[in-house]
This record gives sequence, C-alpha cells and structure tokens, in this order.
Amino acid sequence: MTPRHLFALELDRLPSFEADFLIIGSGIAGLFAAYKAREFGSVLVLTKQHAEDSSTEMAQGGIAAAIEETDSPFFHLEDTLEAGAGLCDPYAVEILVTEGPARVMELVELGVRFDRKGDAWALGWEGAHRRRRILHATDATGEEIARALIRECRKDQKITLKEGYFLVDFLREPRTGRCGGALVLDTQTGGFLVCRASAVIAATGGAGQLYLNTTNPAVATGDGIAAAYRAGAELIDMEFVQFHPTALALSAAPRFLISEAVRGEGAFLRNVKGERFMLRFHELAELAPRDVVSRAIVREMEKTGADYVYLDFSHLDRDRFKARFPNIWRTCRQYGLDLAQGYIPVAPAAHYIMGGIKINTSGETNIPGLYACGEAACSGVHGANRLASNSLLEGLVFGARAAATGGRYLQQAGRKIPGLPSSRAGKSKGNFSDLDKSFWRKITDRVRTLMWEKAGIIRTGGALVEAAAGLDQLEAGIPFYVPSREAVEAVNLLTLGRLTVHAALLRTESRGGHFRKDFPARDDQYWSKHLIFQT
Ligand code: SIN
Repeated sequence: MTPRHLFALELDRLPSFEADFLIIGSGIAGLFAAYKAREFGSVLVLTKQHAEDSSTEMAQGGIAAAIEETDSPFFHLEDTLEAGAGLCDPYAVEILVTEGPARVMELVELGVRFDRKGDAWALGWEGAHRRRRILHATDATGEEIARALIRECRKDQKITLKEGYFLVDFLREPRTGRCGGALVLDTQTGGFLVCRASAVIAATGGAGQLYLNTTNPAVATGDGIAAAYRAGAELIDMEFVQFHPTALALSAAPRFLISEAVRGEGAFLRNVKGERFMLRFHELAELAPRDVVSRAIVREMEKTGADYVYLDFSHLDRDRFKARFPNIWRTCRQYGLDLAQGYIPVAPAAHYIMGGIKINTSGETNIPGLYACGEAACSGVHGANRLASNSLLEGLVFGARAAATGGRYLQQAGRKIPGLPSSRAGKSKGNFSDLDKSFWRKITDRVRTLMWEKAGIIRTGGALVEAAAGLDQLEAGIPFYVPSREAVEAVNLLTLGRLTVHAALLRTESRGGHFRKDFPARDDQYWSKHLIFQT
C-alpha cells in the first residue's frame, strides 16, 4: 500500500549513536523494557517529545492484577478471554495473568504508590471484570507509574533517555535482513541521525489520533506501527479499535477521559431525558464490555438528538468521589463544569487499538532483531476487545519479555555493530524543501474526520468504501515526502487508516471493537481468524 521508504537518503553521511538496545517510546512498555534490558547491556531510549508525553501518563483507572486471595489468575484469564470475543491467544493471556502480579509488585519495589485501604490494596472495579482487581493511584495511576519509571531510567548509568527524537524508519542489514537500528529525526535541529543497536524495541504506543475524537495524547500517531510495516513487519487485527464510552463531551474541552472506575464506583449512565438506558442493553448495565456501552450511548444520542449522555454520580457521596477522582474533578471544574448537580456530559471517543505489530510471546516480530511491546504491538492478549486496565499490565509483562529475548540474543551473538545500508532509495530524491506545515495538518485532519465519520463505532460496508476512496485520494495527492515530523506523522496515520478500513471492509461480521451494521452477528464459523498485512 505504501512505498517502503519515505524518501531517499545517504545514510552513511549522517551522525550516529550506538547502544546494545535501542528502545523507542517512553510509556510503561518502553521504560519497563529499558529497566529490564539494562541487565544485559547499554540502553538508548528515544522519545519524540518529553518523556511524560505518552498514553501511560494519561491512564486513569489502573492496572489489573489478580493479587487478592479471593481472586486468581484463572478468573482474570476468564474475564480477559470473554472480553476478547473469541480472538485472544489463550497462551498469551495465561502469561499475562500469571506473570502480571509479580511485575506489578516490581513496580511497587520501584516506588509506585498504589492506593491502600488499611493493610490491603484498595482495589477498583471496571467493566467486564467479575471482581475488584484494579490497583490504582487515585485517578492518576499512569502518572504515578511514569513518575517512578522515568526517575529509575534517568538515574541508571546504563540507560540514556533522549527526548525530542522522532522515529522515521527502522533500518535493516542488507545481507541478513536483521533490524539493526533506526533513522530518527532530531526535532530540535531538524537533522537526521542513525541509531545502531543489536536489539531494537518498538514501544511507540498506539494510534488514537487516527480519529477526530480520542482520549489519546497528540503523540499517539502510530509511528512505530507504520514504520514497522514499511520495514516489512506483519501487522495484525487492525480492524479492532476500542472506543471508550465516557470521554468528557464539552464543546470547548478536549475529549478528556472520565475513567470507567467512576462507573465501577456506582455512577449511572442516563440519556438527556434522564433515563438509565444501560439496563435495556446488557445484564451488567454500566459495567458491560466497552463496545456494548459505546454503541448503546451512540444509539441513545441518535434517539434523543443530543451529542452526549450523562454520567450521573449524584447519588454517590460527593466528598468520597472528589477524593477518589481528584484529577477528573479538577479537570471538569477547569473546563467550567458545575459538578454540584453530580452530572458529567460524556460521549465515546477512540481509546485503544487492539491490533498492531504482530509479536510472539517473546516479543519478537517477524523481522529478526525487531521486538515490540505495549500498544504498538499485538501479542494476542486483547483479542477483539481489550479488558479494562489490561493495557498497563501488558506493557509491563511483554516489555519485560521483549527485553529478556533481546538480552538472550546479545548473550549468544555477542556485541556486534550492525552493518546498515549506506544509502537508500525512496519515492523522491529527498526534496528537503519544507512543504507548508498546514499541508500536512490538512491531510491529518482529513484522515481523522474520515475515520471518525466512516470507520468509527458503528460501521457499514458503504461508509467504509467511502472512507477507503477518500484515503486513497489523499494518498494520491501527496506530491513527495518531506522529512518533517508533521509529514511523517501524516503519512503514518494515512497508512494505518487505510489498513484499518481495509481490514474492517474484509471482516463481514461484528465482534468486539468491530461492529458492522450490515453484518451485525458474530460469525464464529468463518471469522474465528485474524487478518494480517505485510508490505
Ligand atoms: C479508564 O480509566 O477507564 C481507562 C482504563 C483502560 O483503558 O484500561
């Protein structure tokens, strides 16, 4: 679908960095992988903005782990498989739920302060979990985890954390095909660098920015997934996108997440007529799986003509609510919302992509030397629909596994400087004249609008065909690729948008995060399988 390289370049003339491990991304998966990889050698972590700019930092609800005596990894496995709607890899899920508790306790040892209730952990409840098993730090769990991991990585002599370095492409050794590094852009100077490493880990996060309305940070543009695809990696499950049911719906505010934990603490969903509608849709009502709740909200919004529903916490103790959700309270107030009535206007927004770079349970992609973890990767633990608060856990468990696999390679093969190509061909000869930033902004905006309107929560074949045509037209209108962050992000979103739409068109059934109004039933006979794309 896309050219293998964004533009031509003389690579051997560029300044270069070297490390045993190159890790791209500073969310939980990348930082925990770095913390683990340092046992095996030097680690260079690159992040495209500040270390804190990640989806991890914004995670509210928490991290799921079966740590209570009344719980067990088996119950956690059952809930994860149920949410995944028949497409989870049970072996990967078993690893997640059995290794998860020990990894979470490592976070505690690193200084992460999860909330406690006396001597026990204060565990939260979220949709489709049959037990309280969510460790949290009020409603700023991700921020607390990121704080501890960034501090740990900054103080470790073997880890170098560099901010403002943007991944352009992964680089492969011409002779062996092994991934031996990456081409990156220094966003301060606009210059290119080559980073060489024996093990390269893509921990670049998701692509929520594919959609006009998203809870994700601006950096979530799927860079690692698109770059891996250009390099020849397999992508899987791209049609499965999770829309979080409750993002703040105020015209002057971003789609700030209102954590599912709010419903876990007993808040109701009501349409603008005041009806508690979830009772009509699912036996678990407000705590039904996210896809069910998001579609129910869309239907109620259509029925009432409003572009939001209400999250009603008026029956809950106001002081306890404020103490449990200080971040939500503060942010709603900051956008001028009067919380005295106990109502928050909410609507669904893109939140998480279940698909990504296909990995095995050791974190390996199909490209030797390239590993992936976190939201950029698809390990098979989420299937068609991720269980709430399993993503931070996946970042930990599979971040550690990717580091261990890379470490084993280093121990066996010894320290080797990869032989990267001296130059590469591309679609253009490298026209470095900068196209106006607004050109790329327009492409990005168009992709996000098309995806939201035609490939969103409720899909139809007709709308998906229109989306595909619109995205193809945008692709054809790109005159040449220029090496700026805005250009590469726009091209990355366009690539992933086209793959998502293509997969959604092919999958003629409804399952988990993928709902087709023209094929509303789940078809286990034909569709208990995955769609994989490769250049
Ligand atoms: C939330 O707090 O609702 C988000 C948790 C998650 O996405 O796992």
